[in-house]
Amino acid sequence: MYRIAYVDGRYLPHARAKVSVEDRGYQFADGVYEVCEVKDGKLVDERRHLARLERSLRELRIAEPMSYAALGVVMRETVRRNRVTDGIVYLQVTRGAAPRDFQFPVAPTRPTVVVTARNSDIARLDKLAEDGVAVVTVPDIRWQRVDIKSVSLLPNVLAKQAAREQGAREAWLVDKNGFVTEGASSNAWIVNREGKLLTRALGTGILPGITRSVLLDLIADQGIKFEERAFTVEEAYAAREAFVTSASQTVMPVVRIDGRPVGNGAPGLVATGLRREYRRYAAIS
Ligand code: PDD
Repeated sequence: MYRIAYVDGRYLPHARAKVSVEDRGYQFADGVYEVCEVKDGKLVDERRHLARLERSLRELRIAEPMSYAALGVVMRETVRRNRVTDGIVYLQVTRGAAPRDFQFPVAPTRPTVVVTARNSDIARLDKLAEDGVAVVTVPDIRWQRVDIKSVSLLPNVLAKQAAREQGAREAWLVDKNGFVTEGASSNAWIVNREGKLLTRALGTGILPGITRSVLLDLIADQGIKFEERAFTVEEAYAAREAFVTSASQTVMPVVRIDGRPVGNGAPGLVATGLRREYRRYAAIS
C-alpha cells in the first residue's frame, strides 16, 4: 500500500516516519488528536474539527504547532499523497519531546505533529449500515475530562476489545448511575418508546462529536422530536431505534444491545433517514 505520514515538517514513508522515545505523547499520552472524514478527496467539516482541536490544545495548554490554515494544508497534502478518496485523515499533536518528567517541560519544546490518512472500505461500511451493528454496555472508567480529545484512550481500547470479544462493533460506556455516556469511539443515540430522539447533553462527560453537532443542525431543520438528555441502559433496551455517530462512519444503526434486539431488530427509519440526509449538511472543502 502507498503510505506516507507527515511528521514534524516532513512527508515520509510510514517505515521511516518516527517520533522520539522521549515524546510526551508516548510517555504520558500528553497529546490530542482529530479524525476528519475525507469524501471525494476533500475534508468534511474541517472548520469544526480544527475548532475542536484548538479547544483541546487550549484546555491542556499545549502550544499551537502552526496556524490552523497551515494544518489544513498539511491534512490536504497528506490526503493527496496517500491518494485517499473516501476515508479519514488523522491528526495528532503532542506536547513534544523532552526528558521524562511529569511537569510540563521548562525549556521551550516544539509540539510534535503527526498526520496520516487512509481510505475506508466504503462498501463494507454501507453493508454494516444496511444490516445494523451490535453494541455491548461496559462501565465508563475514563477520567473526568473526556470532552478533551486526548490520546489517552486505554479505557476505550479495553471497551472496544470487550465488544469485539462479544461479537459487537462498539461498546456503550455507562456511568455510575446507569446512564449511557457515549460509545468508546462514537456518540450514542436512541429513539425512545415515545418516539423521541435522545442523546446525552454536552459537558465534561462526553466528547462533543462533530458528527453529533452536524446531525443536530439536520434534526432542527427537519423538525424531528428531540431532547438532549442522558438515557439509561434500560431505556436503551426498550428503545425503538438506536444508532451511533462518528466521523469515520457518520450515522450507524444499532440493532442489538447486550444481545437484545432493538425494536424489531432491523435498522430504524429515523437512523436510516439521518444517514441518508447527513451528507447534505456536512461542509465539504
Ligand atoms: N472517534 N466519542 C468518542 C469517545 C470518540 O472517540 C468519537 C470519535 C466520537 C465522535 O466524534 P466525531 O463525530 O467528531 O467523530 C464520540 C474518532 C472517530 C476516533 O477515535 O477514531
